Amino acid sequence: MTIHRITLTINGSSEQVDVPSNLTLLQLLREKLALTGTKNGCMAGECGACTVMLNGEPVNSCMVLAVECDGAELLTVEGLAKDGVLDPIQETIIEQGGVQCGFCTPGILISARALLNRTPNPSKADIQEALVGNLCRCTGYLRIVEAVHQASERQLLATSSD
Ligand code: FES
Ligand code: FES
Repeated sequence: MTIHRITLTINGSSEQVDVPSNLTLLQLLREKLALTGTKNGCMAGECGACTVMLNGEPVNSCMVLAVECDGAELLTVEGLAKDGVLDPIQETIIEQGGVQCGFCTPGILISARALLNRTPNPSKADIQEALVGNLCRCTGYLRIVEAVHQASERQLLATSSD
């Protein structure tokens, strides 16, 4: 198996790692870099538990090869809070009770953050569409969708008072 040396930025830190051709981004994060916040639900691109941001776009990390990420910028759930301050979507999903077992939560948070970055004031339909690839077996989605809505309001308020 060919080994490739790749350099990528993860949550603001530059990392250089040697990866075999067949290693997925999900395996790289969990098994080589100990970033276990990103979850392995299906390894088949179906559940969204492994969602991370790759160059600003949410992707299923189980469907991306690590070697394809040479030079890329990644955001995982571990990078959402800054200096100990939670991202608004982390605050509101807790407040709304949008977390039960929590297995889907890291992927949902990343998909929601990607939505709020590109659409600061999303409609309910926008939120539902952004989360369509993130399966949750526990909460029924109502609280999650409300949490994203409230995070957008909190974010807009913070921006307008800057
Ligand atoms: S683990 Fe990647 S989509 Fe399910
Ligand atoms: S909170 Fe359990 S799968 Fe979503």
